[in-house]
Amino acid sequence: MVIRVTEPKGQDMRRKLVVGNWKMNGSRAANAELLAALKATGPWIAEVALCAPMPYLADVALSLQGDAMAWGAQDCSAFDSGAYTGEVSAAMLAEFGCRYVLNGHSERRAMHAEGDQLVADKAKAALAHRLTPIVCVGETLAEREAGQTDAVVKRQLSAVIHTLGHCISQIVVAYEPVWAIGTGKTASPEQAQAVHALLRAQLKAATEHAGDMKILYGGSVKADNAAALFAQADIDGGLIGGASLKAADFAAICRAAG
Ligand code: 13P
Repeated sequence: MVIRVTEPKGQDMRRKLVVGNWKMNGSRAANAELLAALKATGPWIAEVALCAPMPYLADVALSLQGDAMAWGAQDCSAFDSGAYTGEVSAAMLAEFGCRYVLNGHSERRAMHAEGDQLVADKAKAALAHRLTPIVCVGETLAEREAGQTDAVVKRQLSAVIHTLGHCISQIVVAYEPVWAIGTGKTASPEQAQAVHALLRAQLKAATEHAGDMKILYGGSVKADNAAALFAQADIDGGLIGGASLKAADFAAICRAAG
């Protein structure tokens, strides 16, 4: 099987980006059906990418050859190679033409004890192999109720800024309030915009390119709430979980970002 490795393009100045995070879902048959339906519906004005589970990446890469949709992984190791059983390095992903990789998704922070520094190190490894890290930040419900939202997301982003230095401009940030993930409770467009503006200001203090960087919103984005979220000044697209598994729903979200 020969997979064409395309050169990663630079960030496309605030063109909206919609990323499907399949999480640990799918099967070869279900993926083939979903991909066929999406390929038949696209392309969209927004850039679209799909983050599939590791064993399916080669299938997805092959299926998307020649299509405008990009693909990515849901995690990568902070290390290049060695005795790290079960890990997959950014170098390995790059070999297959991977474009994006999620780093620090809240499910990994919570269930795999990934701390801020490890997440930053993973993003650094991704960039070293010319993948675009999509670094996820977000507060839990308890943190929001305690008035700690700003401090939490700033702390999470700060570790990445310190680790990447001027390369921070090459990442995508995703704000995903933990209380909105898979719960049907979306942050209101105003709630999300407030945090996005805060993150943008933090990026501005670190890089002159902050205005061109993408900050995605994730957490119960659906076809019927996507347009209002994407209309906010600092929301540059979405990171979509459940709705990315249904072609019609995901396509509608991609259209809403156009
Ligand atoms: P849902 O869209 O299912 O809430 O998931 C969001 C998410 O975690 C995407 O990474």
